Formats: sequence, structure tokens, C-alpha cells
Amino acid sequence: MTNVSVIGCGNMGGALLSGLARTGTYDVTAIDLDPDALASVADRADRTTDDVAVAREADIVVLAVKPTAVDAVLADLELRSDQSLVTIAAGVPRAHVAEQTDATVVRIMPNLAAETGNMAAAATEAGLTDEIREMLDAVGEFVEIDESRMDTSTAVNGSGPAFAFYLIDAMKEAGIDGGLDPEQAETLAAQTFKGAAETVLRDERSVSDLIDAVCSPNGTTIEGMEVLWDSDADASVVEAVGAAEERSRELAEQFQHE
Ligand SMILES: NC(=O)c1ccc[n+]([C@@H]2O[C@H](COP(=O)([O-])OP(=O)(O)OC[C@H]3O[C@@H](n4cnc5c(N)ncnc54)[C@H](OP(=O)(O)O)[C@@H]3O)[C@@H](O)[C@H]2O)c1
Repeated sequence: MTNVSVIGCGNMGGALLSGLARTGTYDVTAIDLDPDALASVADRADRTTDDVAVAREADIVVLAVKPTAVDAVLADLELRSDQSLVTIAAGVPRAHVAEQTDATVVRIMPNLAAETGNMAAAATEAGLTDEIREMLDAVGEFVEIDESRMDTSTAVNGSGPAFAFYLIDAMKEAGIDGGLDPEQAETLAAQTFKGAAETVLRDERSVSDLIDAVCSPNGTTIEGMEVLWDSDADASVVEAVGAAEERSRELAEQFQHE
């Protein structure tokens, strides 16, 4: 069994712990200074501790604290050169972490869907080992990118779940307006997004071919699509991703100038 230590058991660390626990193939240690955070993940970890030195026993160490806490954790963390350190801190360059540890460092931008094994993640090519690829595969899908694209990934898949929740909510509201009860509308909207996403991932056809496949001539779908094609809905999504990307760049600046 691969031993994984997750340092920082908040939103993202907790989601990763859930995803890893579901696989049943990882021995997981949850590390956090906050007893409440440890209590909240106790059911998903093989052990919990506030002692960061325990990470020295792991094959893979995931650094899941806020960017501002990264240096403090690294100062207390003595890892070996045969260990992998996965940093998920938004905006913190791989090199900034690598110069403070002997472990091989890979930077990833995960998202909260790790919790259900549906994470979308981007990983830097640098520092990516087969052991890390296997772990990312176990909790979702990942792509390998150059680190210069991390701000874009932060916006697309890191912030992306919030944008998707927003669109699902709009679809749900439309269902409620049409008379569905809120629970039914939420199930139908969310499952429709889930199914459509699965189709895009598994079907070889392009997205526009897939849209065509749902639109029969003079049918219902084409009436709705005409409204979307005439709107700025796609531009608004691009703008939202762009704004998140810009903010990611701003937040990263403090580390870039070191
Ligand atoms: N949330 C997301 O959707 C998301 C997506 C992609 C990447 N990320 C990245 O993931 C990281 C964590 O984000 P988050 O939203 O999960 O934050 P969070 O909920 O605040 O979790 C961070 C956890 O780390 C703990 N911590 C702080 N200093 C520590 C230390 N020295 N040793 C051990 N544990 C310590 C915190 O405890 P205290 O509360 O006591 O400080 C907290 O429980 C960030 O760097 C973020 O950029 C998050």
C-alpha cells in the first residue's frame, strides 16, 4: 500500500482524504494543527496527528495548507530525497517549495470533486512520477501542463466547480419556474450536467457534434439553442474564467518576485 500524508485537512485536504479513502488502496495519515479539522476527517484517514514529523514515513506527502502557511510547514518538514511532495497551494511556484525540501516536488491544481473520485486536476510535468500519476488517476482525471499555465488551470478546474454550480442552479430555477418541485429540479439539472460531462469525456465526437445530436430539426432543443447562440452566455463564462485567472496571477505575484 502506498502511504500518503495529507498536511492541512480543510476543504481541499479533506476532499482528497475522502477520495483516497474511497479507493481502499492508500494508507492515509491526516495531519493538521487544528483538533477540529482532524476530528472532521477522522473517518476518512487511517490515522490523524498534529505532528508534522510523521510525514517523513510517507511515500507521498500532500501539502494542502493555505499559501500563506506553506513556508511555516516546510520549515518543520524534513523529507527524504526518495519521497514525493505534492503542493496544491494556489500561486506558490514549484521552485519556491522545491528549494525548501529534499523531496521531489510536483505542483498540482486539484478541485473539490476529489471527494467523490471526480477530481479534475492539472499537474506540472516537472516532478511528476508514475506514483503520483497513479494517485491522481485514483481520484479523478488529470492533465500534465507546463507550470506557466497554472493560473489558467486554477480558474478552469480549481474555481470551475463554482461556475458549474451556478449554471446548474440556473437550470434548476428554470425547472422550478416550470412547476417542478425544487428537489426534482435539482436532481434533473445536476444529473443532466453530470451525464453531459461524462459524454464529453468518453465520446469521440466534438462538443458541437454532440449538440447537433440532441437537436432534431424543428424539435425542442434547437429552439433553446437558438436563444443561447444569440446570447452572450459563452462570452460571460469566458469572462468569469478570465477574471479568476487574473486574480490567480495577482495572488501569485508575492511569490514570483522572490
Ligand atoms: N478549496 C479549494 O477548492 C481549492 C482548490 C484547489 C487548491 N486549493 C488549495 O488548497 C490549499 C488549502 O485550501 P483550503 O480551501 O482547503 O483551505 P482550508 O480549508 O483553510 O484548509 C487548510 C487547513 O490547513 C491547516 N493548517 C494551517 N497551517 C497548518 C500547519 N502549519 N500545519 C498543519 N496544518 C495547518 C488549517 O488549519 P487552521 O484553519 O487552523 O489554519 C486548515 O485546517 C490552499 O493552498 C489552496 O490554494 C484549494
